[in-house]
Amino acid sequence: MTVTLGFDIYGTLIDTHGVIVQLEKLIGDKATAFSNTWRDKQLEYTFRRGLMRNYENFPVCTRDALNYTCAFYNVDLNSEHKQHLLEGYLSLPTFADVEQGLLDLQTLGVRMYAFSNGIPDALETLLSNAGIRDYFLGIVSVDDIQSFKPNPDVYQHFLTTSGAEANHAWLISSNGFDVIGAVSVGMKAAWIQRSDKVVFDPWGVEPTITVSSLIDLARQLPDN
Ligand code: 2OP
Repeated sequence: MTVTLGFDIYGTLIDTHGVIVQLEKLIGDKATAFSNTWRDKQLEYTFRRGLMRNYENFPVCTRDALNYTCAFYNVDLNSEHKQHLLEGYLSLPTFADVEQGLLDLQTLGVRMYAFSNGIPDALETLLSNAGIRDYFLGIVSVDDIQSFKPNPDVYQHFLTTSGAEANHAWLISSNGFDVIGAVSVGMKAAWIQRSDKVVFDPWGVEPTITVSSLIDLARQLPDN
């Protein structure tokens, strides 16, 4: 069976800290810390909404996390600035290895999908703006089942939608919680560890392989 790859988007292909450029103009040297808190809080809100079965989509989690972060850093952004930052989430940059890595992986003849917490329209726009939409056969969004990673149901939804079998399907992600979620339902998973400062969660559930970039993944991906 042909191998299917499901690529995580935010934090794996797309650099959410691309917002720092905009933030620097608004809040100067707090920008990096602000961006880190915003991203951490955004993910925390997805986890909590998943646990509470109180689904609001990813843009709502992102907006609420932005409001939290403004309050946390005592930063008074007006609604126009906030809107501008949230719109910035539709045109974030890719990591440096992504374009070449996707090209290399495409030449292996694998089936490639985007698979994300994001909502379909935003993902279409984001991937198109980043110039990588055409690499993917489709976009699988957790929004279809109104929950978030790492709920096992969302990985099952990926398998059903992509028509893949778990033992021939790989999650490709830099997010450790995502890798553990996929391996826990029987999928394979490549953890993209771009920096050796990033630590994998010590839960006793390991990635199938760990690579330093998508280019490295294309070299190391087994053909089954
Ligand atoms: C994504 O699903 C986990 O935010 C990450 O794109």
